[in-house]
Amino acid sequence: TIPMVIDTDTAQDDCIALLVGLLDPRADLRAITMVAGNVGFDQQIRNAFLTLNAAGHLGSVPVHLGCRRPLVRPWESAENVHGDGVGGMTMDMTGCDPDPEHAVDALIRLAAESPGELTIVCIGPLTNIATATIKDPSFVDNVKGLYVMGGSNNARGNITAAAEFNFYVDPEAAKAVFAAGFDITVIPWAPLTLERAVFGPSQLAEIEALDTPLSRFFTRVCATTLEFDRSVGINGTTHPDSLTAAVLLHPELITRAGHYHVDVETQGDLTRGYAAMSWGIHGLEPNATVVEDVDAEGFHRHIKTLLEQFRSSS
Ligand code: BDR
Ligand code: CA
Repeated sequence: TIPMVIDTDTAQDDCIALLVGLLDPRADLRAITMVAGNVGFDQQIRNAFLTLNAAGHLGSVPVHLGCRRPLVRPWESAENVHGDGVGGMTMDMTGCDPDPEHAVDALIRLAAESPGELTIVCIGPLTNIATATIKDPSFVDNVKGLYVMGGSNNARGNITAAAEFNFYVDPEAAKAVFAAGFDITVIPWAPLTLERAVFGPSQLAEIEALDTPLSRFFTRVCATTLEFDRSVGINGTTHPDSLTAAVLLHPELITRAGHYHVDVETQGDLTRGYAAMSWGIHGLEPNATVVEDVDAEGFHRHIKTLLEQFRSSS
């Protein structure tokens, strides 16, 4: 199994990424760490517990609360895209207590407990990760690697023309993380997610037809984003975060990747959060592997199997 932490701004596809971490037999999910991002921080906490509950894992994986705003900027939400991030689902939160240890301390501790073994799946802004590198200089060496959902490798953004949301919200953190010396694998928004990690009408129908508690959970948490995605011409719901968790656990899903020097723009009015991915002719040493293509069918099958499996084991 693969020792991992998921650092998340839990809403919609973050929930599905958590399901991957909780239910894939290859995953050894040691903690969930929360970072400010998609929707209000307290809502994100509720969403994480709702997901743990849906997966039958309440109490088995700790939820640590991390940075409630970006390093230097005010927090900006994506509530226009995600709503509350779980399609209005609620549950009794009695007993759903976050771990008292701060997420940054948990990340540092977990990495130090098994040096060179822990992978962090980063599916929100990189504020917690950047803060951990500042708090403990040995953090970078203790971590095996980061799987980072963020950026676009052709500048097609989703929050501005130039930028993808996770890097846009905390560009200073993203820049610091790429400069820190981690072994980083990037799962970009475009073109990869748009081409390979969209659940379109036929896949959504297949998931609905499963009619399991988890397939219903999937349909519900994706409902608001699906509406938004359709309104902007994307024919389905986008799943970069669950793809990020899936390719860590199933590297065979990656069909093409390249080595790039990745840096993140923090200054430009039009380009804040833009991921500059230099491909080797600019004299810059590569600092990341960027996933360029994946087996989309394999990915969709993987998610479907998880949603199904739960029924047979419950
Ligand atoms: C990222 O922001 C959110 O919409 C998703 O959860 C993903 O992590 C995509 O830009
Ligand atoms: Ca996310």
